Amino acid sequence: MSIPAPAPAAGTEPVPSAAEVVDSMEEMSGGPFPGQRRSSARGICFKGTFEPSGDAARLTTASHLRDAPVPVTVRFSNSEGNPDVPDGAPVTRGMAVRFHLPDGEATDLVALSVPRFVASTPAEFLRLTRALRPDPGTGQPDMARVRAFVAAHPHLAEPITQQPPVPVGYGTLAYWAVHTFVWVDEESVRRPVRYRWEPAAGRQALTPKDAARQAGDYLTDEFRRRLARAPVAFALRVQLAEEDDPTADPSVAWPEQRREIDAGRLVITAPVDDQERWEAEAFSPLRLTAGIEPSDDPVLAFRARAYAESYGRRSRQE
Ligand code: HEM
Repeated sequence: MSIPAPAPAAGTEPVPSAAEVVDSMEEMSGGPFPGQRRSSARGICFKGTFEPSGDAARLTTASHLRDAPVPVTVRFSNSEGNPDVPDGAPVTRGMAVRFHLPDGEATDLVALSVPRFVASTPAEFLRLTRALRPDPGTGQPDMARVRAFVAAHPHLAEPITQQPPVPVGYGTLAYWAVHTFVWVDEESVRRPVRYRWEPAAGRQALTPKDAARQAGDYLTDEFRRRLARAPVAFALRVQLAEEDDPTADPSVAWPEQRREIDAGRLVITAPVDDQERWEAEAFSPLRLTAGIEPSDDPVLAFRARAYAESYGRRSRQE
């Protein structure tokens, strides 16, 4: 039996280029699929409102978290880069929210349906995508290669093997922004925070048997039917860090007992009027507004470059 080489310590490796990572993501998903996002290709957009509760007002100057309600655009997606992967697949789902602020400004909150990311650094993410690329013979990842990756990165074993639930609908999942962000208050006091959207309908998953019975686009259909009955709501829950909570590693969750506030309520009311325009849009975890800053997380910093690379390629219909 060969023993995999241990992974280099986080932070000691050179940061890969965005092009290298996006190339590898394309290979991993069997792409490229021209005109499509290189991750979360299959998605659908809705509109609604975010109403702040007021509880965040003394912790951040961000206007949408303390003042009047603001309009939002929300894109739900399946995380795969292949837009033809059916909705019943046990993959991570995404929820990207754009808050439309006064004076034409905007800020985004981009989240996934799992609490921990699958890599601590961009270099680890690149190696993982390479380990997951399909074997040309079977069209599936080579499980021996995946096991070797996990053995060499034991701290990622849990996030990589976590089974994302197959939801009853996009409106019955919790979504985590995973990274740490820093809230800045009126006195310039800085506080590390983490966000989670909690569905008002409660978390509800399908059994594997029911998931296998669903049509390929059941998530879109289910959401439209749910919306026709009533608006779909989420609470924005925010964890406040304690002294030693890690801020730079999105693969590590903070303890669930951390003090949490309810920052407000998102209410989705209807599909967007122009689906095509919103499909062509680019959400970004680093589109921030005054009162919210990025943390020292290297994955968060890297994402802006990878998203710009993917956006450039899909805008050119590559
Ligand atoms: C090294 C880390 C990551 C890389 C390289 C990466 C890469 C990408 C790329 C290339 C896209 C397509 C962007 C576009 O064309 O607009 C994307 C979309 C997305 N990513 Fe990531 N990602 C990373 C980490 C994360 C994390 C940590 C989260 C969640 C917290 C996340 C959630 C999403 C979501 C929800 C979308 C779809 C956004 C939309 O609907 O437009 N990603 N990602």
